[in-house]
Amino acid sequence: MFVNFLGLLCLALSSLVLGQTNADIQNDPISVFVTTPGSGSGNYVFALNVPSNSEDIYFHLSGPDAYQWIAVGTGSEMKNSLMFIAYLNSTGTGVTLSPRISTDETEPSYSSSINVETLSGTGVANGTITVNGRCTNCTTWNKGSLDLKSMNQAFIYGLGPSSGSLVKLQSNSLSANLERHSVYGNFEMNMTKATGGTNGTTLLSTSFPSITTSSGASQDGHQTSDGNWPVIIHAAVLSIAFIIIMPSGAIFLRIIPASVRWHWVDQSLATILIGIGGVLGLWLSTMYNRSSSYNSAHQVLGIICVIAVFVQWFLGFWHHYQYKKHQTPTKYGAVHLHMGRIILVFAIVVGAIGLSWSFVKTSIIIAYVVIAGVIVAIVLALSVLKRHTSASFSFLQAKGSERSLNAEGSYENIEDPFSNRHEYRPYESNTPLASYPHRGDSR
Ligand code: HEM
Ligand code: HEM
Ligand SMILES: *[C@@H]1O[C@H](CO)[C@@H](O)[C@H](O)[C@H]1NC(C)=O
Ligand SMILES: *[C@@H]1O[C@H](CO)[C@@H](O)[C@H](O)[C@H]1NC(C)=O
Ligand SMILES: *[C@@H]1O[C@H](CO)[C@@H](O)[C@H](O)[C@H]1NC(C)=O
Ligand SMILES: *[C@@H]1O[C@H](CO)[C@@H](O)[C@H](O)[C@H]1NC(C)=O
Ligand SMILES: *[C@@H]1O[C@H](CO)[C@@H](O)[C@H](O)[C@H]1NC(C)=O
Repeated sequence: MFVNFLGLLCLALSSLVLGQTNADIQNDPISVFVTTPGSGSGNYVFALNVPSNSEDIYFHLSGPDAYQWIAVGTGSEMKNSLMFIAYLNSTGTGVTLSPRISTDETEPSYSSSINVETLSGTGVANGTITVNGRCTNCTTWNKGSLDLKSMNQAFIYGLGPSSGSLVKLQSNSLSANLERHSVYGNFEMNMTKATGGTNGTTLLSTSFPSITTSSGASQDGHQTSDGNWPVIIHAAVLSIAFIIIMPSGAIFLRIIPASVRWHWVDQSLATILIGIGGVLGLWLSTMYNRSSSYNSAHQVLGIICVIAVFVQWFLGFWHHYQYKKHQTPTKYGAVHLHMGRIILVFAIVVGAIGLSWSFVKTSIIIAYVVIAGVIVAIVLALSVLKRHTSASFSFLQAKGSERSLNAEGSYENIEDPFSNRHEYRPYESNTPLASYPHRGDSR
């Protein structure tokens, strides 16, 4: 009873002393915007105070640490916005506050000319990232300004991804790599209400967790749920093409149904998808500071890999064309064979580097490499075995296929080269074509 009473007394006293309830803030020189972002517990809060006759601004920014980063920006769009972005420091026990300017709908870049510092109350606790900050001489900057007389100054907010499959962003660097937001929106602030007092004293002594409604600010339009869909499509298209469709092409050629036509159609589909995925990758690269100069390992190796696939397609085509003309295996066919195997392995490496670059958890990267590795290893083993062994592989043989030992390696059905299942023999063995059985049941 007594403890309860004491507690109540403390609560009453603290709200009296600190002016920290929804009602009290109405009379303070503070505008505060509050919204519910969705993930994690707690609100997104941005509060602002501009002391009278000052070019400095004091602000409070807080939100759930389930998000990689939390941010506020001036203006109604990303372009030319001055942003304050907060994320965990490298030990995960404190907060890094990074002032950035965005030039487009792309990752904003750290701006050293913005003089911002964190003040008391900044930290990470109870699942909430909190920043109390001051930006000195901040009402105008090289790309814009705040209208201190405005009753509806535009602001934007955004929160980084909150997916459990990503590692947390923890960095002391002011230019740390950011991933695209999972939530963003617009709000307006009454700057007249935010003006007054000295040195941000009232703002710094306010307990914002108890402020649950906006005051002198309001949401403008709807909050948008966003996703990094270009990266997801890029990764999905390329992974499906390299790990499922391309290896299938090897099976189609050698085992079931052992058909050049199936191989050709399948690998052309893979090549088209890889072209699309590669172009998506080039476009995606314009969105991040880390990728805009196209010189990272993932990009360089990825570009080599995509070009190799197109060369591979052409080699297959050219081998076949030459074969029809001269009716003998070609060296293009041999290069095609070995390069195809190398590409399959190489692409797994490129994908793994891409995942780690995109903050994906190590356990998921390992799973990706293991699954892709097993699929590609099985396919390569089967096709190598098939190429070098006799018909003992009967369980894998297409119905009606009574291949001779060496019926591998070249295109022999001249009337319809895409429809014969007995095309393969090593190009090294220049056995005359006439010695190969010509099957009537070709597909
Ligand atoms: C890696 C960093 C970022 C990337 C790649 C990025 C990318 C984008 C893209 C592509 C859009 C357009 C979305 C669409 O039309 O569907 C967009 C919009 C938006 N972003 Fe970002 N963004 C980043 C950081 C931020 C930050 C830090 C904020 C908050 C301060 C923010 C706030 C907004 C807002 C309010 C919009 C809608 C208004 C507009 O289109 O400018 N963004 N962003
Ligand atoms: C063999 C070809 C490639 C494969 C298998 C591949 C695969 C991947 C994968 C798995 C991711 C991670 C996606 C995620 O986290 O959901 C990724 C990200 C990315 N890739 Fe590729 N990629 C390839 C080629 C390229 C090329 C040619 C470029 C551009 C030059 C490129 C640019 C990017 C970029 C910019 C990202 C995003 C990084 C980020 O989110 O921070 N990729 N890629
Ligand atoms: C992170 O912030 C905490 C709290 O401010 C601090 O104790 C810690 O030293 C910081 N870590 C690094 C690596 O700066
Ligand atoms: C965290 O939450 C606990 C219990 O809800 C509370 O006692 C403590 O003061 C909170 N800490 C901060 C820094 O808000
Ligand atoms: C404040 O910033 C403006 C614009 O960036 C600059 O012209 C001015 O010299 C700065 N004033 C001080 C006192 O640093
Ligand atoms: C903005 O704030 C000022 C000062 O508190 C107040 O007089 C005015 O009515 C407010 N304007 C709006 C549109 O809320
Ligand atoms: C505000 O801060 C300045 C310098 O930091 C200091 O000289 C001044 O006394 C402070 N004013 C008040 C009212 O605390």
